[in-house]
Parts: sequence; structure tokens; C-alpha cells
Amino acid sequence: MTSEMKKFAHWNFSLEKDNYCWLTIDVAEKSTNVLTREVLDELREIIPVIEQQKPQALLFQSSKANGFIAGADISSFTTITSQEEALHLIRQGQDIFTMIENLPFATISLINGFCLGGGLELALACDYRIAVDEPKTKIGLPEVKLGIHPGFGGTVRLIQLIGAPAALPLLLSGKILAARQAAKLGIVTHAVPPRLLRSAARKTLAKGQKHTRKILPKLADAALARPLVAALARKKLKQKVNQTHYPAPFALLDLWEKYGGSPTTMMEQEAQSVSKLIRTPTAQNLIRVFQLQEKLKALPADTTFAPRHVHVIGAGVMGGDIAAWCALQGFTVSIQDNSHTILAKTVQRAAALFQQKLRAPHLVKAVLDRFIPDINGACIPKADVIIEAIFEDVNAKKELFVALEPQIRPDTLLATNTSSIPLETLAADLNNPERLVGLHFFNPVAKMMLVEVVSTSYVEETDVLKAVSFTKKIGKLPLPVHSSPGFLINRILMPYLHEAALLEAEGVPPLAIDQAAEQFGMPVGPIELMDLVGLDICQSVAEFMTVDPTMKMPENLQKLLDQGRLGKKSGAGYYTYKRGKPDKPSIDKKTSLPGDIADRLILRLVNESVACLREKVVADGDLLDAGMIFGTGFAPFRGGVVHYMHDQSPAALLSKMQQLATQYGGRFTPDKGWQTI
Ligand code: NAI
Repeated sequence: MTSEMKKFAHWNFSLEKDNYCWLTIDVAEKSTNVLTREVLDELREIIPVIEQQKPQALLFQSSKANGFIAGADISSFTTITSQEEALHLIRQGQDIFTMIENLPFATISLINGFCLGGGLELALACDYRIAVDEPKTKIGLPEVKLGIHPGFGGTVRLIQLIGAPAALPLLLSGKILAARQAAKLGIVTHAVPPRLLRSAARKTLAKGQKHTRKILPKLADAALARPLVAALARKKLKQKVNQTHYPAPFALLDLWEKYGGSPTTMMEQEAQSVSKLIRTPTAQNLIRVFQLQEKLKALPADTTFAPRHVHVIGAGVMGGDIAAWCALQGFTVSIQDNSHTILAKTVQRAAALFQQKLRAPHLVKAVLDRFIPDINGACIPKADVIIEAIFEDVNAKKELFVALEPQIRPDTLLATNTSSIPLETLAADLNNPERLVGLHFFNPVAKMMLVEVVSTSYVEETDVLKAVSFTKKIGKLPLPVHSSPGFLINRILMPYLHEAALLEAEGVPPLAIDQAAEQFGMPVGPIELMDLVGLDICQSVAEFMTVDPTMKMPENLQKLLDQGRLGKKSGAGYYTYKRGKPDKPSIDKKTSLPGDIADRLILRLVNESVACLREKVVADGDLLDAGMIFGTGFAPFRGGVVHYMHDQSPAALLSKMQQLATQYGGRFTPDKGWQTI
């Protein structure tokens, strides 16, 4: 017998005959559970009601199949107007979780799917956590990625639970864990198959009543050890993260170093620290990045499109990796190339990726079983999606499409991964040119989230919607763009790389150029990026984009190419590579460096962005910003190129552009679009 006690809007609970109370979260009108103010207010109301019932144990669970709780309501972070307001909200959250922690009976969270941020903080306030061991379970405190750190007691409780040496790397990086990893670290009590979730929870509860949180055995030493551990962690962090751009992880370390000896004080200071961080431009811009990602995920798509078989033609760097990625996402994939040797190598490379991502032999075998080398293209008629990824050669691609057209079904999505050839050119000889779309992936495919969905004015809208839908289904972020040389991302990136090549040719040390860009917030400097992309490719893309005559690469780049220095792939480009790492000669102290390196680089990129918006290569500034952040890593803490322009004031940037145009000539001439920015 189950007695239903009261139904709230977002929670409901029932006391079962064994006196276990089940509290189920099911946030109304949302597909995912998030801790909004209302949801937390209800929880505060419910806990004392449950306490009065004197159950033997309280079990938290979610009724949503996609997960337990994905975190706090991030959209509310942008409406906080003062530090006091932030502090008040954070303290309220802390108080509720402390109420749970202090309940006089055992508490346990049953975790399926997402258990992130505030969701894990709630689970950490319980005595036990049981997680479902399946790939969609994701456990972590990723707050630093939003420019803050956990504020509902998570910083304190995670460190208490597993100790600083294990907890700090997770908190400082925002790393997300699978169920088994979380169990290994002691964050969850057990990781179990889905069917055993409830029985595992009951068994855990049956083993003991209220479990006393173990204070780390070495806590006594911690006061002495903390400054040392914090100093080491800070040193390591500084090698990866710029403190001025990303203050949150450093604030977290300070918090632990100063107050780690007293959980109560640390809790108070945790709230103070987050209330300050949340209003910083970095946090507000990182929250914007999160929202841009959600915007891409929510773009209109053909939800009825249900592809199962993907056929990729060209098993080189891109085709091989696209095929492997699609197989990993559950698709049956056939991969075609006119070379047996290349196909064999591609299967090996794919197997290595499957092994790295899936580990379990039965899962690796299952995905390999649906990865089909297909030298003759026998699978073409079966394919729901066909992606062409052969050499960047106009005639070879055109011939291929003409040969393909009669073999494919009318409902099949036909796409090219070309990085520079206009769709109009590629589709020119087709009977139905309107069905060819671009699906432009970025290298390396397994890491880069963005896919440009390229169309022309005559491409069928239904095909664009199918392409967006497919991109989402393979777990990537779709960015609809209009066909133009270089599409959106390469087109904006190219002037920036061009300026870097010019600076280098003027004698500015490569390291100084890279440092200026990294100081601005780019993940990799432009010189190193050119080496990564390949200097031959940079040269040919620049040539292809010579609609702009100012874009000609300097002689110096050609000289490097003549010496066989093609970049990282040949072991040398601008830099020489040792075991895959660039050897960057230090800058002679006597060298006088120009003061405008960063301005020259960034304003070229900004000006091209303005041109793309004016030409409507992309629908709006938000989408442009999303594309540049997810396609190139453009300084996330700045919130995107267009956001940066508005932050700096377009008038101020325009005046800098005009100065640079006077000094360096036409390539800095402000685009006409500045008038409407
Ligand atoms: P790749 O040179 O590594 O591979 C091309 C493959 O196509 C080779 O294995 C070749 O044997 C095969 N091939 C050529 N003609 C064929 C045909 N008629 N039928 C079957 N197979 C054929 O080239 P990569 O770098 O993978 O580039 C492929 C496409 O992806 C190009 O259009 C390129 O612009 C685009 N792309 C490249 C990126 C990169 O970073 N490499 C990034 C984004 C797009």
C-alpha cells in the first residue's frame, strides 16, 4: 500500500508501507529537471512535512527519463541585479540542502542521466547516492565553465566526501564523470544497471541507518598541508588558465586554502565568493555561451527525419573521422574510398576511437559491426544520408555527384563537406541541384562541436531542415549559413590568419604574435593555428578567397612551403615540432615589439564578421558568435565577436579601424556594415 500525501507542482512524494518516503522531482513544463527558485521553494516546504512523518528513509528520484537534475536554472543567473540578491538566493539554496543533510533519517539520491551542478549538490547533501551505469549518466560540478563555482555547499561537501586531492581537479576543471568513474572516486556509493537501481538503494539503506559523514582522516594535517597543496594546484592551473580572464577556479582555490578547516565558515564564504563571481563580465559572458549553445540545439529541424544509414565517400582525414563519429552515435555507416589501403587504415583509426570512447569490448564490437568498408559504393541506394568528403578538387567532386545522382533515393539527404567550393559550382551539373547541401565539419571531428549547414537560396528548405536534424542527431551543433567563399567560419578566420602571416613577414617573432592573440583570449595563437591547419591549405584557401585582392599571403609563407615546411604534419612550419609539440624560440629581450599586434589581428576578424552580417551569410549576431566560439574557440569569456564589439563600443573600434587603415592601407577599410552595427 502506498499513501499519496500531497502533490506539489514540481515534486511529489509518497510514503510506502515499509516507511520509505519517495520524493520524486518532475519539474513542470520543462523537459529537463532544473532547480528554479520555485522548485527550491517547494522543496523547502516539503522537507519539514516529510520530517513530521518520521519515515525510515528519504529517497530522491526523478521521473524524467533524461536525468535526475541538470543543475540550477541558468537563465535566472542573468536577471540577478546585485551581489546582495545573489547572496540571498545562494544562502537559500544552501539552507535547503543543509536541512536535507541534517534530517534524522537516512537520505539517498537515485541518479539516472544528468546529475550536474545543483543536482549533484543536492545529491551530495544526502547520505548515499546510487547511479545508473549507462552512457547517458553524467555526474559533475561544471560551474567553473560558467565563470562561478558550486554555491549550494558543493565545494565543501565534495571535498569532505572524497578529499581535496581528488576533489580539487574535478572542481577546478568542471569535469563530468561517467557513473563508474564517480563510483571509483567515492562520489556515488554504487553504479548499477538500470534494472537494479531501486533494489540497490534499498540494500544500501538496509545496511545501515543514518550514515555519519566521515571527516577525512587526515583533516588534522590539512591546515598545515593546505597552503602547500593550494600553491601547487594554483601553479598547475596558471599553466592552463588565464586568471584575469577566468577568475573562478582561482577563487575556489583561495576559498579552500583559507577556510577549508571549517566547513561552516567555508560554506558562508562559498556563498560570498559565488555572489561576487556571478556578476563578473566573465560569468555573464560564459552564461551567454551556454545559452548560445542551447539556441543552436533548439534551431528548427525536421523532427520526422529518422536516418539510420550514413554513407561517407572519401575515407581521408575528414571522411574517415566523420564516418567513425556517426557510427559512434549509433548509425550504420558505410565508408567508400577508391583506395583499399586507405579504407583499411580508416577502419583501424575508427577502431582506436571506439576503443578510447567506449572501452567495453562488447560495445566496441557492436559499433565495429555497423562500420562497413564499401569500396564500390554498394550501400549508396540504402543510405539515408550521403556525405561527400573526397579531395578538395572541383572537377573530381562534380563528376562524383553526377555519377551519384541516379543511384540515390529521392528522400536521401545529399551533402558535401567541402570547405571552400560554392555549392552552386558543385551542383551545377545535377538534374536536381536544389538537393545538395553542405555539412561542413571541423577538424578534429571528434572534438569540434560545430557543423556548418550550408545552403543557397535555391536549396530546398526541407533538405536544410533535414540537415539540421541530422547534425543534432549526431550530437553536434548545427549552424545554418549561406554559401559564400569560406562559408562563415573560415571566411572570418582567414583575414586574422592573413594578418598574422603579414606580421611574421614584417619580422615580428611568431611567439609574440601568438602571445598577443592568447592574451586576448584565443585558445591557440594564429601562427600555431596555421601550422596545425597546414600552411599549404592556408595558402590555397587564401588563394581561393581572392575575391579579396588584399588577402594575398606574403612571400615568406611561400618560402616555407618551398622548403617543405607544411606545418605540424610535416614536422615543421613556422615552428619546428618535436614529438608533436612546437618548439617556440623565445623572444630576444632587445626586440622592440609593435604595440598594435592584437588590434591588427582581432580587428581584421571583427571587420570580416561585420561583412558577413551585412551579406547575411548568417542570420544574426548571436548565431555568428555561437559559430565563432564553437567553431574556432574564439575567447568564450568575451561572449563572441559581435558581443565583444558591443562591449567595447562599435564607435571606438571603428575609430581604431580607421587609424589602422591610414597606417596599413585598404585591408583595414571598415566594411559598409559598420553603419548598421
Ligand atoms: P584527404 O586528402 O585526407 O582525403 C580525401 C580522400 O578521398 C582520400 O582518401 C582519397 O583516396 C579519397 N577519394 C578521392 N577521390 C575519390 C573518389 N572519387 N571516390 C572515393 N574516394 C575518393 O582530404 P580531407 O582533408 O579529408 O578533405 C576532404 C574534404 O573535406 C575536402 O573537401 C576538404 O576541403 C574538406 N575539409 C577538410 C578539412 C581538413 O581540416 N582537412 C576540414 C573541413 C573540411
